[in-house]
Amino acid sequence: MGILKVLSLVAVLVSPAVLAVRPKLNAAPKVPGAYIVEFAENSNADSFYQTLGASGQAVEHRMDLKYDLFKGVSFKLKNVDNGNEEAAAQKIQDMPAVAKIWPVRMYPIPRDEVHWTGNSKAAMPEAALLQKRQSAGNNDTFSPHVMTQVDQLRFRGVTGAGIRVAVIDTGVDYNHPALGGCFGRGCLVSFGTDLVGDNYNGANTPVPDPDPYDNCEGHGTHVSGIIAAQTNPYGFTGAAPDVTLGAYRVFGCGGSAGNDVLISAYNQAYEDGAQIITASIGGPSGWSEDPWAVAVQRIVEKGVPCTVSAGNDGVEGQFYASTAAGGLGVASIASVDNTQAPSILLNATYTVDNSSLSAFGWTQGTPADWGNVSLPLWSVNYNTNDSANACTALPDDTPDLSNYIVLVRRGTCTFVQKVTNVAAKGARYVMFYNNVSPGSTAVTAVVPGILGVGMTSTAQGAEWIRLLSGGSSVTLNIVDPEVAQQYPVSAPNTATGGFLSTYTSWGPNYELEVKQQFSAPGGLILSTYPLDLGAYAVLSGTSMACPLAAAVYALVSEVRGTLDPKVLENVISATANPQIFNAGAGKTADYLAPVQQQGGGLIQAFDAAYTTTVLSVSSLSFNDTDNFVDTANFTITNLANTEVTYTLSNVPAGTFYTLGTSIFPDPFVNEVAPAVADIEFPQKEVTIPASGSVRVTIYPDLPVGLDGSRLPVYSGYIAMDGSDGSSLSLPYLGVAGSMIRATVLDTANTYLTTTKSAPGYAPAPGNATFALIASNATASNGTVYPAVVVSLALGSPYVRMDVVPCKNSTSKTPWHHRQPKTTEFLGLKTLGNIYGFPEHYVPRGATVSGWDGLLADGTLAPPGTYQLVVSALHIFGDNTDLADYDRVASEPFTIRYQ
Ligand SMILES: *[C@@H]1O[C@H](CO)[C@@H](O)[C@H](O)[C@H]1NC(C)=O
Ligand SMILES: *[C@@H]1O[C@H](CO)[C@@H](O)[C@H](O)[C@H]1NC(C)=O
Ligand SMILES: *[C@@H]1O[C@H](CO)[C@@H](O)[C@H](O)[C@H]1NC(C)=O
Ligand SMILES: *[C@@H]1O[C@H](CO)[C@@H](O)[C@H](O)[C@H]1NC(C)=O
Ligand SMILES: *[C@@H]1O[C@H](CO)[C@@H](O)[C@H](O)[C@H]1NC(C)=O
Ligand SMILES: *[C@@H]1O[C@H](CO)[C@@H](O)[C@H](O)[C@H]1NC(C)=O
Ligand SMILES: *[C@@H]1O[C@H](CO)[C@@H](O)[C@H](O)[C@H]1NC(C)=O
Ligand SMILES: *[C@@H]1O[C@H](CO)[C@@H](O)[C@H](O)[C@H]1NC(C)=O
Ligand SMILES: *[C@@H]1O[C@H](CO)[C@@H](O)[C@H](O)[C@H]1NC(C)=O
Repeated sequence: MGILKVLSLVAVLVSPAVLAVRPKLNAAPKVPGAYIVEFAENSNADSFYQTLGASGQAVEHRMDLKYDLFKGVSFKLKNVDNGNEEAAAQKIQDMPAVAKIWPVRMYPIPRDEVHWTGNSKAAMPEAALLQKRQSAGNNDTFSPHVMTQVDQLRFRGVTGAGIRVAVIDTGVDYNHPALGGCFGRGCLVSFGTDLVGDNYNGANTPVPDPDPYDNCEGHGTHVSGIIAAQTNPYGFTGAAPDVTLGAYRVFGCGGSAGNDVLISAYNQAYEDGAQIITASIGGPSGWSEDPWAVAVQRIVEKGVPCTVSAGNDGVEGQFYASTAAGGLGVASIASVDNTQAPSILLNATYTVDNSSLSAFGWTQGTPADWGNVSLPLWSVNYNTNDSANACTALPDDTPDLSNYIVLVRRGTCTFVQKVTNVAAKGARYVMFYNNVSPGSTAVTAVVPGILGVGMTSTAQGAEWIRLLSGGSSVTLNIVDPEVAQQYPVSAPNTATGGFLSTYTSWGPNYELEVKQQFSAPGGLILSTYPLDLGAYAVLSGTSMACPLAAAVYALVSEVRGTLDPKVLENVISATANPQIFNAGAGKTADYLAPVQQQGGGLIQAFDAAYTTTVLSVSSLSFNDTDNFVDTANFTITNLANTEVTYTLSNVPAGTFYTLGTSIFPDPFVNEVAPAVADIEFPQKEVTIPASGSVRVTIYPDLPVGLDGSRLPVYSGYIAMDGSDGSSLSLPYLGVAGSMIRATVLDTANTYLTTTKSAPGYAPAPGNATFALIASNATASNGTVYPAVVVSLALGSPYVRMDVVPCKNSTSKTPWHHRQPKTTEFLGLKTLGNIYGFPEHYVPRGATVSGWDGLLADGTLAPPGTYQLVVSALHIFGDNTDLADYDRVASEPFTIRYQ
């Protein structure tokens, strides 16, 4: 095994729980040795590989990227066992054929919360029962559509007819009757491809085939149904059911997608004539310079709107923009919770005292080996408010529970804990009742002796407790979930309906471009699922918000007769409805949620489609205090055939501090800062003639009295109320502090460790000596390398790791006839960066980088005593000015070669 392979294994994410440092999560991991190259003008893959071959570099081809907007290849270096990876990459970058080279990074399949999935073998609900929910004609009552005015467009017969929407995801189950039942010309899913094959995991070489069938994941099938599901027994349709779908499969079964695959999928969709492209995929970045984001930006600039989910990392607090959502011109879509909590129940019955028969609904869990069970119900106690029901061992006088179905209230301890306690008394079947309205959820509690678990509603549980406590016997007659009748129910989500989902990621990006763009319902969404995985499912995530936004682009473009991404973004943003802030745990504020969380607000598709007032921008950034935009302007155009007078005003949203009392961003919920921006309007009223335009200038004033060192992000909306009854809002944001002064490097948690101490990465012992492997030799499993944990409190545009010889270096004899030759870098006498550095546009978080002695220039450092010095450039910093860096030197250590 070569050195490189050993190192690649250690360049993993640090588990924050183990390392106990503040920075969490991480950049999308790199595929070791894999690069994307973009060719210079007049170059191609043949000439590129020929030149490489001539220079003696063996490569394994990964993907051809032969596109109008991106010409290149991705490949993996071979024969780099002397650890020469970065040098080879540098050599390639210097080849005239190459315009740019990037590492291949991996992005995982989004893990959205699964609330419910159907039972693939269970009977579908009876269509007749549901027809009334769908109603006659165009009356769309599906709550995500009602929330976004999609129902009003549907009522007018707007369906996105003929518009080609590409979905980049896990593929789609096109055999699903609600997704057309076929693939290809004339089908709902009429174009697309599989770029990767089942066995692709993000790191290995993709094996494409032409069939984008979603055979193992389900994510893409759910996303596709949100856009275009056809009439079905569950009583909903997609928002734009007459579009034509394209499915571009970028995930195998499990694992991740490389950014070479993602760039390829976008370009292929673009060249296949996709008119809107959507991807519910992402990873933390915060930088619009990320290569995938740049590739999407180019497609947007060619006139194809691209929507990307904002990410489910709300817990990380501000400045956690995801890629490619963070790209310029890319519409980043935040999530609000559905006003209805849909679920699909299994029908069963119960008898009271052997007589009256009633039906009830429940949700099967795992295990689900219920069969057709008829057993009396037994409850631990009769207290319907017992907060920790069955959380402790049951009393000695508990009967043998093997011939009962045991009723247990949800709450406090885990399902497994409760089930374990009742199983100890012989229980085989457990029926939970919910402690939170509405509905029920799928429980997993695999415990020895337990055959079946399930859940029913709070109300049903209370009814049974009332009967049991009154001395009645209650017998449940469960129909085997494999054949039971299913039916959908929907309860109002009074707790969080209409509010921003607490999981939705916060912007802005590090360059203070406005992120997010707008919001759509993503929490508790019913849609299609692969037939083999249950056919229908309720999921939550920005993954579910994004396709609804893509569908709205289709509907609005049908009405307005344009697909221009800028025009559509401007009207959708201006007509969106800003929502009140939701701090989670049932706490809502009396101020608006910030633009960095909700963008323009909840999409209002009808208003966007028909507004006759159009703005020239979708948002404004006032930057930070050093780069403060004290004068801004935009144009209002009145497309109506009458004169309209607009009254302008400032509607501030909540201002939130980014940092706590340290250099670290606070997690959700960020502290509210007690001041908002003021906006001066030279003209408070603007009258615009029919078909006229007026340029409006505004003068923002920073919020006063805030602690700028904590990077408060202020935001709000410029409201425009028209004399014609129209009402528009233009989102703005800025930072009332100096980005360049913010510390980016967590020097206390940036330290020398060893590859041997994975995964905890304890500090290396003092004055450690490492016996490394010289060129061309083979490393054994026992070889221990020095490594550095680099912890970034905020993202950095440029991170170096310099090899600095200590004065007392033990190197006495020239090694391979080479003395350590140092150069000067901002006060350091350095041999240069270790290979793999410098890194550009690095997300915040902790990473471990091992070192095998190789330098960035492709030579080995001589034996000796060194310190590794990490220098991280501040946001907006000048990379030639030491004052703009944070820097820390590792403990000295000694290397020699075996
Ligand atoms: C659509 O159906 C809902 C509920 O069935 C009803 O309240 C509403 O009035 C209907 N709307 C139209 C335009 O028919
Ligand atoms: C549930 O089953 C009962 C008894 O078989 C039946 O009367 C009832 O209509 C069913 N309910 C639904 C919603 O299917
Ligand atoms: C219900 O019927 C079962 C057998 O059919 C009998 O053992 C039991 O005593 C009856 N219970 C009541 C409350 O009548
Ligand atoms: C804010 O200012 C910095 C420094 O000039 C610049 O790099 C950045 O692009 C600006 N951001 C926006 C959104 O204009
Ligand atoms: C209006 O804003 C643009 C940038 O958005 C700027 O280039 C231009 O100078 C501004 N015009 C006025 C009159 O302020
Ligand atoms: C490293 O060695 C030097 C010189 O022998 C000694 O002064 C120093 O304390 C040592 N450092 C550690 C951390 O052991
Ligand atoms: C390593 O191997 C290459 C090719 O096999 C050879 O040319 C080179 O001299 C070797 N380097 C060392 C340091 O042995
Ligand atoms: C290293 O360890 C792996 C797995 O533990 C083993 O398969 C391999 O043979 C070992 N290699 C050497 C050189 O010891
Ligand atoms: C070598 O010098 C460094 C400072 O440059 C010091 O920290 C270290 O302890 C010294 N080590 C030895 C072995 O003297």
